[in-house]
Amino acid sequence: MQIELTQKSRTETEADIEILCIVDKNFDHAWVQEREILELAGFKAEQDETCLLAERRRLYVGAQSLHHDDIRSAYATAIRALRKTGAELVKTGLYLGKCSAQNIKAMAEGMVFGDYEYDVYRSEKAKHPIKRVLICNEDFNGKTIDFTKAQGYIDTAVKVAQATNYTKNIVNTPPDDMTPEMLALKAVALAEENDLECIVLDEKGLETENMGAFLAVSRASDHPPRLVHLAYKPQNAKYKIAIVGKGLTYDSGGLSLKPAEYMVTMKSDKAGACAVLGIMKAVSELNLPIEVHGIIGATENMIGGNAYKPDDVLKAKNGKTIEIRNTDAEGRLVLADCLCYAQEKVAPDYLLDFATLTGACVVALGEYTTGIMGHDRALKHGFSKAAANAGELTGTLQFNRYLKKLIKSDIADVCNISSTRYGGAITAALFLDHFIEKEYKHKWLHLDIAGPAYVEKAWGYNPAGASGAGVRMTIKWFEQILKQAEKQVQ
Ligand code: BES
Ligand code: ZN
Ligand code: ZN
Repeated sequence: MQIELTQKSRTETEADIEILCIVDKNFDHAWVQEREILELAGFKAEQDETCLLAERRRLYVGAQSLHHDDIRSAYATAIRALRKTGAELVKTGLYLGKCSAQNIKAMAEGMVFGDYEYDVYRSEKAKHPIKRVLICNEDFNGKTIDFTKAQGYIDTAVKVAQATNYTKNIVNTPPDDMTPEMLALKAVALAEENDLECIVLDEKGLETENMGAFLAVSRASDHPPRLVHLAYKPQNAKYKIAIVGKGLTYDSGGLSLKPAEYMVTMKSDKAGACAVLGIMKAVSELNLPIEVHGIIGATENMIGGNAYKPDDVLKAKNGKTIEIRNTDAEGRLVLADCLCYAQEKVAPDYLLDFATLTGACVVALGEYTTGIMGHDRALKHGFSKAAANAGELTGTLQFNRYLKKLIKSDIADVCNISSTRYGGAITAALFLDHFIEKEYKHKWLHLDIAGPAYVEKAWGYNPAGASGAGVRMTIKWFEQILKQAEKQVQ
């Protein structure tokens, strides 16, 4: 599906069908010519409600307001509805809000999301009849735009949305087809396509790096672990950023085995790693002037005679010892070594990690929201602002000294679980904090995407399954810090 901006007005533009938004139930707007028919059809123009007037060649969709979230959702719904009609050429006008750029991007992004369906394992494939969408240079409220700039916004939004869909595809892939080795191969393929540097470490490499925690988690799996280090290094880089992703291609819980109902969906425990791949794809395709290093800890948490055990004591890359009391708290062990690696090898200006780390984060914030944790208030605030502008939900969870004490161990430097059942998302982050060196404390952000990364029921414009959580918010934050850097120069 190609999305193009045209200089022509809506009436001058030829198409099989037009998408018309009814904003805030305003049926009186001049663009709405079929008010009576719509009323007869019982169409109320609620957010994401659609009404197809086939003979008039129009699809009406409701949008609560001109807020970018509402426009994104309306366009995703409209495209999803139009896919059933077989229309190939679609036209629409502009629905600009407070910030024109944001709404143009939301329209394009929504459309790419509306065209997404995961059908790899279905005999009957999804239909994608829409070939082109023409966005006519005519605004709902008569606003005007800079044509060239607007084309750039569409181009950016399509790239980011496609990178998000790419992340969804990898997360949705079943565990036997997306083993740690396969995930590493995905990264190698991306590196080749997008001209990135790529290093892959196998078990021997992990041993050389003294990654005792990562290796212990990997031991019981028949599929060997992989650490992937991708790097995008533009010449004009304004920052150097490391992004680390939890890549558990399957989390059975290990010897602290998950109950059957909780094990289903654990193919999604690689979503942090997949978000890192999506971000690497987007940042390189957008040519952003930031050096980005993507580090992925890919492995499986399985059972077996050589599995690591509750009561074991592991040694991480930074020399810290970890008492294991639950093998299902494995993600933090893999991340601990990967975070040490990122600090040592990259020495970044900012260090972010993405992980489906805790069920507790889902309990705290609900399924649709990413948990943001870290020591630096301004960094957390800036990131959550970027996420909101990108159309992703976040909530900040605060550290405190009492929770910090709950992961103390009598026999090792730290314990891999908390001594109480409350505040699990924060205690997991405080565990990671043990592997953040002093100089990086205020450069680090931990993003727990356990909720939104994979939701079994469709929500808004997100289909059932993977959502690509983390990709859009991070790209938006990159754009935001680049703007700040520019301001500082002026
Ligand atoms: N991968 C899970 C966390 C998870 C839960 C992700 C639900 C997505 C949805 C993680 O490895 C895990 O099992 N965490 C445990 C930690 C506990 C043993 C301290 C949890 O959250 O129950
Ligand atoms: Zn687990
Ligand atoms: Zn896990």
